[in-house]
Amino acid sequence: MLGLLVLVVPWPGVILSAGEREVRILARQYAYAPGVLRVSQGDRVTLVLEAEDVTHGLHLDGYAVDLVAVPGRASRATFVADRPGKFRLRCSKVCGTLHPFMLGELIVTPNSPFWRAIGITVLAAVGTVAFLRASPREAPEEASA
Ligand code: CUA
Repeated sequence: MLGLLVLVVPWPGVILSAGEREVRILARQYAYAPGVLRVSQGDRVTLVLEAEDVTHGLHLDGYAVDLVAVPGRASRATFVADRPGKFRLRCSKVCGTLHPFMLGELIVTPNSPFWRAIGITVLAAVGTVAFLRASPREAPEEASA
């Protein structure tokens, strides 16, 4: 549920640390540019939507993101791309005859460093358990003495 938490806050930061992505999307009748967005799982993604001609929206299926951009006024939303897969973007404001066909795609690729980190954590845990099992061997001798 926390993953669905979306912060619609101004994001003035220019310097983005690792795992932070800012993606600018231009919207005009009847397409987004870029039409396909690619991020890595776990990225904290800020979408900045700008409308070139008329008011457009951007609804991101699977994530609770919904933006509306009026020409001349960008709109932004930040979310954590915590689930890998392909997610449909679609315009949520009627912007003309081909509005229903104004679509895009977000591709969240599984983040291998993320899984490597989990792997290292598991290995460390297994190693610790093995160490704790191996070391008390001398303890009972001390106890019986
Ligand atoms: Cu753009 Cu509807």
